[in-house]
Amino acid sequence: MSELNNIALKILNNGKGILAADESTGTMTKRLDSVKVPSTPQNRLLFREILFSASSMSECIGGVILYDETIKQETSKKENIPELISKMGSIPGIKVDTGAKNLAGSPNEKITEGLDGLRERLKEYHKLGAKFTKWRGVYSISKNYPSKLCVHSNAHALARYSALVQECEMVPIVEPEVLMDGEHSAKDCYEKTSEVIKKCFEELILHKVDLKGIILKPNMIITGNKSKDKISNEEIAKLTLQCLKNAVPSEVPGIAFLSGGQSEIEATENLNLINKHNNTNFIMSYSYGRALQQSALKYWSKNIQNIEGTQKVFNHRAKMNTLAAKGKWSKELEI
Ligand code: 13P
Repeated sequence: MSELNNIALKILNNGKGILAADESTGTMTKRLDSVKVPSTPQNRLLFREILFSASSMSECIGGVILYDETIKQETSKKENIPELISKMGSIPGIKVDTGAKNLAGSPNEKITEGLDGLRERLKEYHKLGAKFTKWRGVYSISKNYPSKLCVHSNAHALARYSALVQECEMVPIVEPEVLMDGEHSAKDCYEKTSEVIKKCFEELILHKVDLKGIILKPNMIITGNKSKDKISNEEIAKLTLQCLKNAVPSEVPGIAFLSGGQSEIEATENLNLINKHNNTNFIMSYSYGRALQQSALKYWSKNIQNIEGTQKVFNHRAKMNTLAAKGKWSKELEI
């Protein structure tokens, strides 16, 4: 087994998933503003340190995606953050893209940037303790979108990023996110997600990326958040499995879904059904940001010194998702 495959499996084995705590300072500020906590470097660190020292880190969270600010911060006990995460039994990772910008040639769409100087930044992150990385491409669905240009250019960037990451001996998370925003049907989401993922693998193969040493982070197949015809959770699970079975090469060891604006319970319930029906050889787990942190953030904002209470809320969500990653969650377990 290659070392990269080994890392990917360690992150996702036994129902473990990923905590996506890599919100940029801008996004984290929005999250903190929404619960009326000032977005200072200290507060951003305090909340994250509380999560990273919770007991579920060893049982449920196989990897944590960090943001550049956090990976360079020290905890209250003067440990660096990757050390804390490793000590808790999890694996530190880092978001390395520099964000989605307007795509020249199709300015209503986005292209993710960050390739310039990436090789050097990767070496620095690797030295700081990162064992895996993340890069997110975004695509929105409407009548004429995503365009071929958007699908192609983001796949190209994801592949160039992945090749550089593997060269630096880390596992790339490949995240092509087809956004939930809009009026589109589940069929549209299925077709566009298939197209986007297939193009990503075409480029990954062209760039000689070792598919056994990546983790795919896709969206589930759901209707747009403004669509009138919703589908059932069972249908979401079945369509998601069918789409991934057809679009993802069998060498890929694991798939870790983003939550993408689903509520905490929805994201857990859908993951559980996906695992109940999983007729593929892929590990199907989670790499959630909002769906792992929302309740904990709300609770914490009421008293930012309440470490134990906040960890309890976070541990519960992490446990529920780990049960879902084994297909063993049920609604009665929610409190
Ligand atoms: P959400 O689960 O909140 O969508 O975040 C996951 C993520 O990492 C988006 O890039």
